Amino acid sequence: MKKTYLAAALLALAAAAQAQPQKRTAFEPGKTWPDNKGTHLNAHGGGVLYDQGRYYLFGEHKIAGGKGNSAQVGVHCYSSTDLYNWTDEGIALTVAPAGSGSEIEQGSIIERPKVVFNQKTGKYVMWFHLELKGKGYEAARTAVAVSDRATGPYAYVKSYRPGVGQWPLGFQEAWKKPVPGEKDLKWWTPDWTKAVAEGLFIRRDFAPGQMARDMTVFVDDDGTAYNIHSSEDNLTLHVAELTPDYQGFTGRWNTIAPAGHNEAPALCKRNGKYYLITSGCTGWEPNAARSFVASSIWGPWTALENPATGPQANITYNSQSTYILPVAGRQDAFIFLADRWTPKNPIDGGYIWLPLSFEGDQPRLQWADRWDLGVFDAAKAKAAAN
Ligand code: DGJ
Repeated sequence: MKKTYLAAALLALAAAAQAQPQKRTAFEPGKTWPDNKGTHLNAHGGGVLYDQGRYYLFGEHKIAGGKGNSAQVGVHCYSSTDLYNWTDEGIALTVAPAGSGSEIEQGSIIERPKVVFNQKTGKYVMWFHLELKGKGYEAARTAVAVSDRATGPYAYVKSYRPGVGQWPLGFQEAWKKPVPGEKDLKWWTPDWTKAVAEGLFIRRDFAPGQMARDMTVFVDDDGTAYNIHSSEDNLTLHVAELTPDYQGFTGRWNTIAPAGHNEAPALCKRNGKYYLITSGCTGWEPNAARSFVASSIWGPWTALENPATGPQANITYNSQSTYILPVAGRQDAFIFLADRWTPKNPIDGGYIWLPLSFEGDQPRLQWADRWDLGVFDAAKAKAAAN
């Protein structure tokens, strides 16, 4: 009898051990990444907030099948203290019921959510790219939701086309009026590129507000926050200052890389300089990443090289940037976060997290099958020895 009890207890223990996912001690880019329940993370196009000793990962919750690229559930949140092991915190922003007429109703498109904490209001503020249901990518809006807790629930506030009736900084008087014949310029000519830089699309969208698609939010050392988004039919990135409560725009904005066709912006600040990593525009297909540096967030931005090196650098290791994560408590430790999209079955999408290093001003990426935060100690030791 006793033996039977012992066997049953051992079996139960073995089953519990099996159900308990193994503690992870490293990043394994591109591999299935189980959460605390053993389910592959579902936070695509994501970003990370560090708050009171915990990291919070927010991203698009995708479902299986073709419909999965539109918002069927909402924005998923996970938390972690070590960046390797993530606890499912549930849906932070839930879509409104289909047919409710809400801007975030089920079937709308909610992409690239980013959450920041506002010291002045004590609120957590989530920004994301919003497309209205049934309108493809035509609405091109950026939207905001707010919560008292990092994990949510987030209450939807509103969507914006930023820059209504506002010219960008340094926009010349002469550029405020259309140039005869500009509409007939061919997009592959230098004249067209010049016309874009001198406001061809900015004038078009001056009254309704500028388009805002792929986006990120960046909070500077002085607490000022910026929404950086693909605008002008994805030709030009815009950087727009947020109000002190982070829930609206001040009207100060500028362009980055006019006519450069950049998407998927990810930004960080290092030694007083701003670094931007983007992708080109090829839908869900990967392409070569780009990088830029500036001494002021308002520019001028200098274009650098593709930060990726080695095999598959030309397709950023089959991924697209989404965020640059400064590791808390470590100087000069940044992680490049990217998505490996699987549009036919979006829920399978993978995560490419790699250490970001710098050669002078040039951000650099190198593929690693497996790595841990110790690489930053090794890099520091090497720098000190040189
Ligand atoms: C590329 C963007 O970076 C993604 O966020 C998504 O909008 C796809 N395009 C849609 O094709």
